Amino acid sequence: MEIITDIAPLRARLRHEASVAFVPTMGNLHAGHLSLVRIAQKHASCSVVSIFVNRLQFAPHEDFDRYPRTWSDDCRLLEEQGADIVFMPDEKTLYPVPQEFQLLLPPVADTLEGACRPGFFRGVTTVVLKLFNIVQPHVAVFGEKDYQQLQVVHRMVDQLNLPVEIIAGETVRDEDGLALSSRNNYLDATQRQEAGELAHHLKQIRDSIASGERDFPLLEQLVAEKLSKRGWVVDYVAVRQQHTLLPVAASDSSLVILGAAWLNQTRLIDNFLLTLP
Ligand code: PAF
Repeated sequence: MEIITDIAPLRARLRHEASVAFVPTMGNLHAGHLSLVRIAQKHASCSVVSIFVNRLQFAPHEDFDRYPRTWSDDCRLLEEQGADIVFMPDEKTLYPVPQEFQLLLPPVADTLEGACRPGFFRGVTTVVLKLFNIVQPHVAVFGEKDYQQLQVVHRMVDQLNLPVEIIAGETVRDEDGLALSSRNNYLDATQRQEAGELAHHLKQIRDSIASGERDFPLLEQLVAEKLSKRGWVVDYVAVRQQHTLLPVAASDSSLVILGAAWLNQTRLIDNFLLTLP
């Protein structure tokens, strides 16, 4: 495995590859990331993983400074996984001048995460577009855990005619259902015990809808109340249409149940897909 930190050597190294599959990450890798790398490896002759904690997608009060940076462990895991290249640029390499050019985002970026974290998707799309331009992958793999991010990236690729195929990797979960996330590392033992409740309650909504319940606002409200009673501070619990992330219409059969909530200082997000017959 090669570790490359600059753009020119990366481009030179990739120039003669028949096909390149790319997994962008912010590091602190876990089994969820490694499952994305395995998908990448099946789709191209060369797999590239980037590790870059992207300041642009964090608001000033968010956790940019304390975001876990575990680069030597990350490289060891990627080596064991058989990744071909790790691209680890520093901030000066990716943002040598203030990043003035940014994208005007589609409505799918305004709701849910976009509403709770203004500027987040602008930061994500900026860095992902830059990384796509640098790596020029044939395929890029994103986790379904960040479901709205996946939809926003899909729109960007479609509407800007980027020559890359986006592949979604399923969310990897711990035994109690907690979706793997680098931010789980912030949880103490008691919070970690509680953390599985987010997935548990979102799944309850999915199961109720699958059993015929159609009062979505009521289901959302009941789960938000249950989580609040357990000590969570809920940003949203929402049943939405999978593609647009708009509220569900009677004719929609592809649904996603999404939630974001705080356990003390840690914000967790999760989602479950449901396709109605
Ligand atoms: O999902 C993430 O880890 C980040 O948002 C991404 C896609 C690597 C962009 O910084």
